[in-house]
Amino acid sequence: MRMVDLIEKKRDGLELSEAEIQFIIEGFTDGSIPDYQMSALSMAIYFKGMTERERAELTMAMVESGDKIDLSAIEGIKVDKHSTGGVGDTTTLVLGPLVASVGVPVAKMSGRGLGHTGGTIDKLESVAGFHVEIENEQFIDLVNKHKLAVIGQSGNLTPADKKLYALRDVTATVDNIALIASSIMSKKIAAGADAIVLDVKTGAGAFMKTLLESEELARAMVNIGNNVGRNTMAVISDMSQPLGYAIGNALEVKEAIDTLKGEGPSDLTELSLTLGSHMVLLGKKANNLTEARSLLKQAIENGSALRAFKVFLESQGGDAKVVDDPSRLPQAKYTCELEAKQDGFVSEITADEVGTAAMLLGAGRATKDSVIDLAVGLVLRKKIGDEVKKGDSLVTIYSNFENVDEVKEKLYENIIISSGRVEKPTLIYKEIM
Ligand code: URA
Ligand code: CA
Repeated sequence: MRMVDLIEKKRDGLELSEAEIQFIIEGFTDGSIPDYQMSALSMAIYFKGMTERERAELTMAMVESGDKIDLSAIEGIKVDKHSTGGVGDTTTLVLGPLVASVGVPVAKMSGRGLGHTGGTIDKLESVAGFHVEIENEQFIDLVNKHKLAVIGQSGNLTPADKKLYALRDVTATVDNIALIASSIMSKKIAAGADAIVLDVKTGAGAFMKTLLESEELARAMVNIGNNVGRNTMAVISDMSQPLGYAIGNALEVKEAIDTLKGEGPSDLTELSLTLGSHMVLLGKKANNLTEARSLLKQAIENGSALRAFKVFLESQGGDAKVVDDPSRLPQAKYTCELEAKQDGFVSEITADEVGTAAMLLGAGRATKDSVIDLAVGLVLRKKIGDEVKKGDSLVTIYSNFENVDEVKEKLYENIIISSGRVEKPTLIYKEIM
């Protein structure tokens, strides 16, 4: 086989065979296929796309390019949740203990990464003593015992994807549904999930800005999952404004605790119940969605979800007392209120820009080497549709430096108050199976 022939084939809009896709991914991973040929192929795929079969085979070829996590020693159906990324998305922290408390095993491999706030691991590390540097064997034991554990990304997972993503980034070929969908799904599958619930975000703070694009990506990922034997479904949810109120690491841990107590923001609670119900259903711990949802609601009401969070924190060395006393979490030195300059109704809280404001405070990493400040961030006091009076607080700013003028300016630019009444945005647009 020659790479040049395969580039030509795709350029002409033909379908690549499984053996050809494997040849490409193996050669690209071991370096025998150079970047310039892979760039040309990526551009051909960008314009000609990939069929459903090609997407599934590309995904599996990337899975096979490196280590695969073996979770077979864990009893039950391991259901993973993946979000395409948003601002102040606290759902993972809520969902882990919530679905674990009704018996669905959650073996979460998580990362740090760049962003407006830290990743799930950074957030959890705001609990003193909590750590994810555990051996695989202990990880599996913990999931069998408590139904929930989190481990840091280890090993050499999907090196083909890592290399290809870096190449796409500098060749203007990131923005293609077939490539994005196989990239995301390859990582989930290599991490060992039997079943996958996807939360595809849509709106200003999301990777996909329009509902149409989000739906196309969701369908592409669901098809890949189902075609390679992993039960997969997707929820398309709103990310025009941040989810919940808190954006920041310790602040989101506190928000997750509130939500597990049944006292959380309504959007975060609703999205957690929706995603959680699908996880419970795929994990075969309920016969239908109605039953799944009522199990989860009970777990919140009777305290078992909160208890699962305590046990989980403790089992990985964390100070579980934070659950009853969130003042034990890292606290910012300064707080100040962003006051509304006029009466009216909140009509916009542009998620990505508000996320950037949190990053300016130090809540997230701008570059790989940035140091995160776990204590700082934002807590929204109003959401889209809420009525405000001049002088009301729109946001509480938690910071470790005194002058937050730049942050305030960014927030004022991106929180719009209109004179007329404004509808609350739809939270869940679609569920795709
Ligand atoms: N996120 C990924 O992991 N891969 C892509 O291709 C795009 C976004
Ligand atoms: Ca939040």
